[in-house]
Amino acid sequence: MTKHLDDMLVSNASANPTFDEILQASVTRRRFLGIAGAVVSLPAFAVLTGCATSDMGSAPTIGFASVPPSTEDRFIVPPGYRAQVLYRWGDPVGMASGLPAFRSDASNSAEDQALQAGMHHDAIEFFALPEGPGGATRGLLAMNHEYTDDGLLHADGMKTWSAEKVRKSQAAHGVSVIEVEFAGGEWRVVRPSPYARRVTASTPMTIAGPAAGSEFVRTAADPEGREARGTLNNCAGGRTPWGTYLTCEENFNGYFAAGATIAADQGRYGIRKGGWGYRWHEFDSRFDLAQNPNEANRFGWVVEIDPYDPQSKPVKRTALGRVKHEGATLTLAADARVVVYTGDDERFEYVYKFVSRDRYDPAKGKANGALLDHGTLYVARFDADGSGQWIALEHGANGLTAANGFPDQAAICIRTRQAGDQVGATRMDRPEWIAVHPVTKEVYCALTNNSERGGKGQVGPDAANPRAANLYGHIVRWREAGGDPAATRFEWDVFVLAGDKQNPDPARRGTVKGDDFGCPDGLSFDARGILWIQTDASSGAMRSADWARIGNNQMLAANVATGEIRRFMTGPRNCEVTGATLTPDGRTMFVNIQHPGETPSERSDPANPRQYSNWPDHDPAGRPRSATVAIRREDGGVVGT
Ligand code: FEO
Ligand code: CA
Ligand code: CA
Ligand code: CA
Repeated sequence: MTKHLDDMLVSNASANPTFDEILQASVTRRRFLGIAGAVVSLPAFAVLTGCATSDMGSAPTIGFASVPPSTEDRFIVPPGYRAQVLYRWGDPVGMASGLPAFRSDASNSAEDQALQAGMHHDAIEFFALPEGPGGATRGLLAMNHEYTDDGLLHADGMKTWSAEKVRKSQAAHGVSVIEVEFAGGEWRVVRPSPYARRVTASTPMTIAGPAAGSEFVRTAADPEGREARGTLNNCAGGRTPWGTYLTCEENFNGYFAAGATIAADQGRYGIRKGGWGYRWHEFDSRFDLAQNPNEANRFGWVVEIDPYDPQSKPVKRTALGRVKHEGATLTLAADARVVVYTGDDERFEYVYKFVSRDRYDPAKGKANGALLDHGTLYVARFDADGSGQWIALEHGANGLTAANGFPDQAAICIRTRQAGDQVGATRMDRPEWIAVHPVTKEVYCALTNNSERGGKGQVGPDAANPRAANLYGHIVRWREAGGDPAATRFEWDVFVLAGDKQNPDPARRGTVKGDDFGCPDGLSFDARGILWIQTDASSGAMRSADWARIGNNQMLAANVATGEIRRFMTGPRNCEVTGATLTPDGRTMFVNIQHPGETPSERSDPANPRQYSNWPDHDPAGRPRSATVAIRREDGGVVGT
């Protein structure tokens, strides 16, 4: 999500290395690399790791013509490509229990909304039908609905407020599973479909892993602490090799209103007195921490959903830690243990990795989900010499003891940020999506921006976050020791500093080879090893003069072997380009467009809902709608070639 105004505050007040220490270390590193500039470039990484860039996969080429920057209220793809809007906020999901049509004045009820696409589409994954390899023309799309703009969600916005509006808002959150089919040259949503499902902020789900049943998650409604209700602020996601979807709870803090005093544990997660203005607590005491102080501990998790079984109960996997999870990117270690990378998206927060205790066994099918309950959670330290360490967040190790506030592993899973503080993790510039190269297993992490870096009272630049007032963001990558994702050491460098090459201010120019962009957020590799980058510059940032040459949020393709970056599509006005996923044959890419027409307050004026965008319907009486778009080549070829 674009950062809500209330999130200008920084939750991480932990002690960190001083600016002088960082500067000294950074200078030492530059000397070691033998380059003059402050930024480590691609060839420097080759020097550092002793590997030639040509061994980073098969050096695929990018075949499409670059799309110029745009400020139009349109979705633009390269010549030879077609884009089809497939699934908009309010479209019926396809449950047999009802197919309520969207009403353009937003007068649908909460009950309708629970049978319709939620708002603010984010991560998306394609699951083949029938389940298994293949399935390029029929499948399921599982996707997130991150949050709501209640100014658009209700006919009269938030001028009046009611329990019904809270229920509608809760029903517009969560996840959709839809069935889709390619026939006659177009994709369509299959309605009704036995797979169609909405998971919302009210759906019962199992709490599993070390925090399950602990004192931290017990509530009056759930004295055992084993069944949560709902998922919210589902931002990025991931998928498992056993055919399940991982959806990640990000800015959960914003939904809770603190009591008279904000406990330190709540403050560390950014919980504020009145919340972020969702106003759920006014009609649902679950979100009033004065009444239900533990409810906030039941969010901030990675949630596993089986998209193939609409009756299955989603599972909150607490072993992966409780943070503002951006995504959960899974890969396999050399010995088939499961490794999950996850970022905590807030200024100065950390990058994490979970390594399972047990090995993946394809014969066990969905039961492999239990792998995510037992293992070791690590947090990353990026050292100035280009090396890095994964520090175990394990009870009894690295100062994570009862004396320091961690009586057991459940406490570490609940207070994951504090555990990261305790072990001296590196404070990053808002870690968003993480992608693993399909061949080399190199890991790429989007650091979307951090305007506060080097600001008054804040920590300054370091080697891994080298720019003060980092408006454009950057992408860091690392290679695990021995090429094994389970390793506890790695070597890293900065893949690219995003920026505006023509900017008169050298600090804003970046190191992009090819098309400019800013604020990388979504990241994923295709099977060829092309890195797809989706951007999320806030609409406020885009209005500034700095951004005129970059334009609306967009998607780009990066050749990580050469460093070339090419713009593939541009979105409508004030949107964010969020998740993207390809069919197994690579011939269709589904991409989500979030909050077209976002207003500075992130709550639109219901009297003038189209003031910034009227995409995709361009209905004079309608409202802008987040939507899933299917992109194909007109000749049916592989996307990106
Ligand atoms: Fe919801 Fe960090 O983007
Ligand atoms: Ca967003
Ligand atoms: Ca973002
Ligand atoms: Ca994001």
